[in-house]
Amino acid sequence: MTDDLDRIMAVMTAAFDPYWGEAWTRRQVADSLLMPHTHYYLADWTGAVPVDEAPAAGFALVRAAPGEEELLLIGVAPEARGRGVGSALLRQLAAAAELRGADRIFLEMRANNPVENLYRRHGYWPIGRRHDYYRLADGTRLDAITFACSIGPADFADDE
Ligand SMILES: CC(C)(COP(=O)(O)OP(=O)(O)OC[C@H]1O[C@@H](n2cnc3c(N)ncnc32)[C@H](O)[C@@H]1OP(=O)(O)O)[C@@H](O)C(=O)NCCC(=O)NCCS
Repeated sequence: MTDDLDRIMAVMTAAFDPYWGEAWTRRQVADSLLMPHTHYYLADWTGAVPVDEAPAAGFALVRAAPGEEELLLIGVAPEARGRGVGSALLRQLAAAAELRGADRIFLEMRANNPVENLYRRHGYWPIGRRHDYYRLADGTRLDAITFACSIGPADFADDE
């Protein structure tokens, strides 16, 4: 786990622009991973799970609840972007959520983050907006947008 914490933090420090204040500290990540329902995913430059000592190019953190999961954070090192690593992580975490029996994944992002295109390509759609939810260090306020993605064997829930 410590090795993987190192891998996560190496990506964390490279991937998140401090302006947005989104990066988690090592302590925050370590504490969250002590929770039994928090899961992490790693991908190398090819999108595969890194083996042995290989570094990670990207990571994702997910919180699982009965029937639904929440993507807490996803990041890919700048030099590894645009190669499908983020997509591989989204597929990896959706497959794991489905295996755990979830039928929806939620996430929250700041308004106008270009990551929205990626989320939409993977089936996430906006379901709500919290006005002025985020406050940046310079006082700027930003809306939060909640997205949801249906996974697994859907389409039979409304059959009755
Ligand atoms: C979002 C992120 C994880 C995507 O990783 P990635 O490996 O580049 O993802 P993929 O290669 O699978 O997909 C790339 C897509 O991401 C989207 N995207 C995300 N951020 C983008 C940005 N800053 N500029 C342009 N496109 C961006 C685009 O839709 C792009 O698709 P395109 O190449 O067809 O235009 C990565 O950009 C990142 O770490 N960003 C900073 C952290 C962040 O904002 N995380 C999300 C909020 S927690």
